[in-house]
Amino acid sequence: MSREEREENEGWNSPSQTLRSSREIGFEFSLVSLQILRMKHSLTVAGLLLFVFTSLAADTNIYHVGPSSPSASTRQGWIDLNKNGKKDTYEDPSRPVASRVNDLLKRMTLDEKIGQLWQVNYGKDPDKRFAAKLKRGEISSFLDGSALIESPVMRNKLQHITVEQSRLGIPVILGHDVIHGFRTVFPISLAQACVWEPDLFQRTQTIAAREAAAAGIDWTFAPMVDLARDPRWGRIAEGFGEDPWLGALDAAASVRGFQGITPGGIAGPDHVVACMKHYVGYGAAEGGRDYNTTEISEFTLRNFYLPQFKAGVDAGAWTVMSAFNELSGMPASASRHTLTEILRGEWHFPGYVISDWGAVGELVDHGVAADTAAAARQGLTAGVDMEMVSTTYPDTLAQQVKAGKIPLAVVDEAVRRVLTVKFEKGLFDHPYTDETRCQTAFLQPDAIALAREAAAESCVLLKNENGTLPVSRETKKIALIGPFADDAEELVGPWSSRAHVSDIVSLADGIRAKLPAGVQLTVARGCAIIENGKARRHLDTSGKIREQPTGTNEIADAVAVAGAADAVVMVLGEPRDWSGEDGSRSTLGLSGRQQELFDAVTATGKPVIVVLFNGRPLAVPEIQKKAAAVLEAWFPGVQGGNGVADVLFGDIDPAGRLTTTFPNSVGQVPFYYNHFNTGRPGTGDYKGNYADGPTAPLYPFGYGLTYTKFDYGKVRLDAPAVKPGGTLTAHLLLANVGSRAGTETVQLYIRALAGSAGPRPVRELKGFRKIPLQPGESRDVAFTLSTNDLGYYDTKGNWLVEPGKYQLWIAKDSASGELAEFEVQK
Ligand code: NOJ
Repeated sequence: MSREEREENEGWNSPSQTLRSSREIGFEFSLVSLQILRMKHSLTVAGLLLFVFTSLAADTNIYHVGPSSPSASTRQGWIDLNKNGKKDTYEDPSRPVASRVNDLLKRMTLDEKIGQLWQVNYGKDPDKRFAAKLKRGEISSFLDGSALIESPVMRNKLQHITVEQSRLGIPVILGHDVIHGFRTVFPISLAQACVWEPDLFQRTQTIAAREAAAAGIDWTFAPMVDLARDPRWGRIAEGFGEDPWLGALDAAASVRGFQGITPGGIAGPDHVVACMKHYVGYGAAEGGRDYNTTEISEFTLRNFYLPQFKAGVDAGAWTVMSAFNELSGMPASASRHTLTEILRGEWHFPGYVISDWGAVGELVDHGVAADTAAAARQGLTAGVDMEMVSTTYPDTLAQQVKAGKIPLAVVDEAVRRVLTVKFEKGLFDHPYTDETRCQTAFLQPDAIALAREAAAESCVLLKNENGTLPVSRETKKIALIGPFADDAEELVGPWSSRAHVSDIVSLADGIRAKLPAGVQLTVARGCAIIENGKARRHLDTSGKIREQPTGTNEIADAVAVAGAADAVVMVLGEPRDWSGEDGSRSTLGLSGRQQELFDAVTATGKPVIVVLFNGRPLAVPEIQKKAAAVLEAWFPGVQGGNGVADVLFGDIDPAGRLTTTFPNSVGQVPFYYNHFNTGRPGTGDYKGNYADGPTAPLYPFGYGLTYTKFDYGKVRLDAPAVKPGGTLTAHLLLANVGSRAGTETVQLYIRALAGSAGPRPVRELKGFRKIPLQPGESRDVAFTLSTNDLGYYDTKGNWLVEPGKYQLWIAKDSASGELAEFEVQK
């Protein structure tokens, strides 16, 4: 019998609804009994009988309300979780979390402890399938991917079983992937990163947390903070790009958004526990193939892959997810070095680590564990506290502890971490979610407004010949061509959580809503997103669905539509499910016949504006060459159509800047601006350049245009040298020399010419400012650097700030700017 079948058979026979009502009745009666006691003098026989009855009922009531709490929500009260009629330390909300954890740990059996280390997949009818295990305290957490998640009813049902019917009443914690929004889906994280405003993540994730919490979710598996340098890897869409410094700011801001900014705020009803993932190195998958092996030197790990995680831990993230990949010879989920020595030893992370889905079980497939028992032993002793979905912990740990193969102290430590987070989240004191909030919590006006703002702000203008954009208000006939023109569902990208197709505004709808009467918009699909024989996943369905292949005359029809228009906007890209998990690509062009469509439309000679919807940098040099304007809009979320239309028509000026390098061809990847110099830099022979194509990127990191033009003056340093511990200020005069207002993202880069512990990148981002200027206006832009900002990590994790020569640029992107030099003195 399979595990699933066994669980089905265990069944569930005690509907919590019935149980709850009898308890609630008991609770009300006991209040009445108190009143009766107060009215000593008028105690009648009937009253006495009622008192006896209600006292009995109160015995079964585990919910004790506090003085100012009229309901059984227990926010002010306590719950008799072990049903012994008294308030034990772990049940007492006024006691410090550490004492509560210690008290509870002492009461737990080995099986109950191991139960705290296992998370199961919610699936269908979880209340029936898992009731027996919940009653025995053998499940710590559920994760969910199903539609049930939009309502907290099922979560509360499961919670009632565990709180009321298990011996110690330890609540479960419900996790879900809320990556870039819950019901209000925002632009993908890579797009939001291009806004260069970490505060935006704090704002969007605050709303994501509010919506998710209203649906009963306690914990999100986000932010994904993996540094990515290879656009073949589809999960590049979920992160912040290729820069560890900017990524660290975005990671910390995301954690603050999910968990709240006040200490203890995590227990608030609008917040969820954050989970930094995937620890670590997952983004360096060889060949860009998801789940593939990674080889990362300790020096590169410390300086590029770890800083975002450290920033998230410093910002208070309570959980971390161990990754699927091998990391330099050891699976990340069995790496004691990263999970224990660095995460706990060096960073003092107080929370718990959960494995990625089945990653502990997969230690057998990796070939480092001979069997599931060895996998469990390796995962747990390395530092994976909770196992997601695979069953090596519940299946083998108890026996291994009894056989002396795993010290009980190791189990205790993992349980302590899990319980600490559950206490911090407040689950022991208010285990249930208000079931009514989800009726009004989704798609609130502030959420919609922010989704629209984020969609517009994350657009990056890649080309704009002769001021083609914004689309002139005089235009009378607009052709909107391409398979993404009127497709709503693709706009939410991968990990669309609970987005509904009907919530999403397509670009055609966004433009229609903006056009004054008398302007004609003609939409022509032109071709399919992918061609016959291939399939893509649609929203709200788990299966793959085929789309109508390109019709015989469809491209020619689109060309005719373009020919009759005053302005031609082509909406091109790649399908949403080619990004995200398992969304690897071996090519980086447009999907299906879109390139052919583009070539046919541009052959008319009409200036073509291209809008791109995609989850990764695309290698599209032909688009750059032939289009009059190119706007990178990423997967912009539920308000994508409105936000992108705002930019196309100039209601909002494009201000996004790339946080990921766009290559000219797939052969150039991995590609990133902050590479080492090598011993043979430069152009010419024997310099390691490509014989058959450009070595330079299509668009560099930091790149992005505006509708106006900015002039950068000469960089001035306040001193040519700085003492260790001192500061240095660099200035530059920025002028808006165009005819429109606009915002420039001014970027500060440095380079250390020599590093004793290892080479330093050719450029490193160390600061930026977003400067709005009116036409003709200029402003002095200053950056103050402390010498500590110039440091880097050695292989032991020491932060080194070294004397020597440094270079500095204040520039519009990573490939431009005038060099200035300074020295850090001994
Ligand atoms: C696997 C993914 O790698 C991870 O990012 C996600 O959080 C889990 N599945 C749970 O859905």
